[in-house]
Amino acid sequence: MTAIDDSTVRSPDALRADMVRALRAEDGVRTEPVAAAFSTVPRHRFAPDASPEVAYSLHSIVPVKKDEHGSDVSVMSTAHLQAVMLEQADIEPGMHVLEIGSGGVNAAYLQELVGTAGEVTTVDIDRDVLARARRCLDDVGYTQVKTVLADGEHGVPEGAPYHRIIVTAAAWDIPPSWISGLTEKGRIVVPLTVHGTTRSIAFDRDGNRLISHSYRLANFVPMQGEGAADERKVMLREGVVLRTDDARVPLAPQALNAALDGSRLERWSGAAYDLPDELDLFLTLNLSSPARLHAAPGIVDSGLVEASALRGVPALVGRDSIAYRTRRENAGTGGFESGVIAHGPQAEALADQYTDLLRRWAQNHRRRGAATLRYLPGPAPTPLPEAAVPRRHGIVTATWA
Ligand SMILES: C[S@@+](CC[C@H](N)C(=O)[O-])C[C@H]1O[C@@H](n2cnc3c(N)ncnc32)[C@H](O)[C@@H]1O
Repeated sequence: MTAIDDSTVRSPDALRADMVRALRAEDGVRTEPVAAAFSTVPRHRFAPDASPEVAYSLHSIVPVKKDEHGSDVSVMSTAHLQAVMLEQADIEPGMHVLEIGSGGVNAAYLQELVGTAGEVTTVDIDRDVLARARRCLDDVGYTQVKTVLADGEHGVPEGAPYHRIIVTAAAWDIPPSWISGLTEKGRIVVPLTVHGTTRSIAFDRDGNRLISHSYRLANFVPMQGEGAADERKVMLREGVVLRTDDARVPLAPQALNAALDGSRLERWSGAAYDLPDELDLFLTLNLSSPARLHAAPGIVDSGLVEASALRGVPALVGRDSIAYRTRRENAGTGGFESGVIAHGPQAEALADQYTDLLRRWAQNHRRRGAATLRYLPGPAPTPLPEAAVPRRHGIVTATWA
């Protein structure tokens, strides 16, 4: 009989220690309390159907529940993203914390951070997910965490006000209950989707408004229930899709598809291109009629649409014309220059507006974290302020340093 060499099989404790080291190295864990929480909670026991290696890997999600089309409706978020959000939340012992979207493990981290004097409530809209989270929490010994079955849109008023609210599904808006559910100096960490890109934003309460303290790119399953996103999506042709979550944007697929077949205007900005996520935040909030253009690899290979659209690119959309950004290498000097491709009868005007924004960003705001985001509740003012996007319960707006 051949002996099995198990010298490379690592114990969950060893995998956990490796994970914490790697989380520090990759700028996930920054502070000792968060490191201690990740070192203590036996993460693999909240993912009993996954291997410990997957449970403790930094960037793997663990699927929990899928819908009838096979899309994830609940997952255990990646360790890295959880660490980033817990650092953004800046949780102290004794705090009362609400988590919207349950899985168990993040609530256990929260309980470690608030300690025995604090309180953690976690709410989920899905009965199966919540029951699973409750089972895991009890099995591992986090019996004090409160679990609530409800649509998180309305918060959990019984436990309010909370020092911290952590939302763990991609939100499209910030309902009034989340702001009023915070203490006066409370903080909400929420993955907010603006024009197709989700960022985990730490917002501090400022009266009845919110002002951002930090933001990081994030990926989340979408919010369900009353707060679900209001998004329109049209296919211009096989492999070319436009999406927008702004009701003011016209989406006329036939005219835009015809524009793509027409002549193509190429305009170079003379400005540097880098930090695409920061650039895209500036663009999507400042373009007068923004959408996100996606193109499949075959379409890009055919030369019809630039490679910038492979993962979605901010587009400026008119009734019959469209413009989006691209880039080219700077000859000799290294780096890239940004530019615009435009199609349709209004191509010149759209390219002018787009190029002007590319230059403004590169000259004035080209660095990480330059934006401050605000959420202002209430009806959207007319005219809408610069760099603002209307939502059901208020507006998201930004300024750049
Ligand atoms: C990424 S999972 C949560 C991960 C979890 N926090 C963890 O510990 O890994 C997102 C969860 O949000 C829940 N969800 C979606 N919409 C919701 C809503 N309106 N109210 C409460 N929960 C919601 C989903 O059912 C899903 O379980």
